Amino acid sequence: MLNETTKQDKNLFLETFGCQMNVNDSEKIAGILKGLGYRTIENPEEADLVILNTCSVRARAERKVYGHLGRYKALKKRNGRLIIGVGGCVAQQEGERLLQNAPFVDIVFGTHNLHLLPEMVRAAESGEKRTEVSFIDNEQRLDLFPPAGETAGVTAFVTIMQGCDNFCSYCIVPYVRGREISRRPEEILEEIRRLSDQGVREITLLGQNVNSYGLKIAGYPNFPELIQKIADVSGIERVRFTTSHPKDLSSELVECFAQLPKLCSHMHLPAQSGSDAVLAAMRRGYTRDEYLVKVDALKKARPDIQITGDIIVGFPGESEDDFEQTLSLMQEVGYADLFSFIYSKRPETKAAEFQDSMTYEEKHARLARLHALQSDMALERNESFVGTLQGVLVEGRSRRGDQWYGRTSGNRIVTFAGEGSLVGEIVDVRIIRAHQTLLLGELNQG
Ligand code: SAH
Ligand code: SF4
Ligand code: F3S
Repeated sequence: MLNETTKQDKNLFLETFGCQMNVNDSEKIAGILKGLGYRTIENPEEADLVILNTCSVRARAERKVYGHLGRYKALKKRNGRLIIGVGGCVAQQEGERLLQNAPFVDIVFGTHNLHLLPEMVRAAESGEKRTEVSFIDNEQRLDLFPPAGETAGVTAFVTIMQGCDNFCSYCIVPYVRGREISRRPEEILEEIRRLSDQGVREITLLGQNVNSYGLKIAGYPNFPELIQKIADVSGIERVRFTTSHPKDLSSELVECFAQLPKLCSHMHLPAQSGSDAVLAAMRRGYTRDEYLVKVDALKKARPDIQITGDIIVGFPGESEDDFEQTLSLMQEVGYADLFSFIYSKRPETKAAEFQDSMTYEEKHARLARLHALQSDMALERNESFVGTLQGVLVEGRSRRGDQWYGRTSGNRIVTFAGEGSLVGEIVDVRIIRAHQTLLLGELNQG
């Protein structure tokens, strides 16, 4: 049995799947376990504790978790004292079933249960298996938002909301993350002040649907008001956010893009489909036209705004005509980046009852057509930056040797020859070449 100690003499290997929300949770998990004497390491072979923070948004993400668990099972055969924990959305969805399917797992903790980790890990150190996946009511959850982990970087993600109340018909997130809740504004601001003191210059606000921040709690600022307060924090030069739900994108938020220079010229605004019939079946709460009107308003408020999005291909009942409407929507919007997924049937969701009308090959063929169009458009868009001067917040050394990298306000990654003293500064970079996902530039001298 291991002794309790706060010396960091035990090894934690943490593997994260899924969205930024999970990445952020993993930082918090690492922070919580540091208090129990675990330092994070890169090699699972040396671990005393392995934690998988999982995603179940599509069946493939879920299968991947079981694949990786197989590897840790083999490690446990060699090191009988290895503790294996599974958290995140698959843990939430599967609960006890996970222990039945993978009896070598020791700890299963759900998305509302990070605060129970110390107690669960201690129990596992004494050989006891535990599952904690109960949802906690909103009142209590407000007190349980774990603080952000420490950061050495110049950019940081800050969770402002958890859960989702939208119940899009295809989506498992509301079932595995629970009801939507907005974090207390004073706690958000306190965290951002602390991050600013540590050298952070850019904040990305995180939530499944940030546009509805504060709307359900009396006395809270709404999202545009919150952005304003954050932009006023000394040392914060840039504010971003993700994700926006089109139905809740208010004219007040659009106005922020006209009024607030610290708000970056980027909006991730998933349309999911360009067809009204599919949007209705998805229960998205907006039509194609309503979406396009909002995109136009954003472009008017901030002419250089870069719009990115998500699209689901092969939703049950999607006809060739529906799909072509998605392609035409892409052309009208001109997405800077587009994340596209083949529809995946998820347990508990409304769409799981719908008749799946297409073969695997048909869905793949549509996805390939979408990719071809998007690659052409993304390259063309990036090429349009060549010759322009862009303000780039320098984040660090690029993987390519002597180059440094940062991002434009529009969230385009730029590499250029620079030096370490520029990290944390916003510098003017002249764009000289464009690839589909990357811009190459040189520092503007003088
Ligand atoms: N809250 C965010 C996104 C959450 S999930 C939003 O509403 O935009 C991220 C993306 O995964 C979604 O935008 C959607 O495009 C995709 N997605 C969600 N469920 C899916 C499913 N069952 N099959 C395929 N893609 C899915
Ligand atoms: Fe899922 Fe829709 Fe909520 Fe996004 S808004 S997390 S797609 S239910
Ligand atoms: Fe996946 Fe859960 Fe995020 S299902 S996308 S990790 S909220």
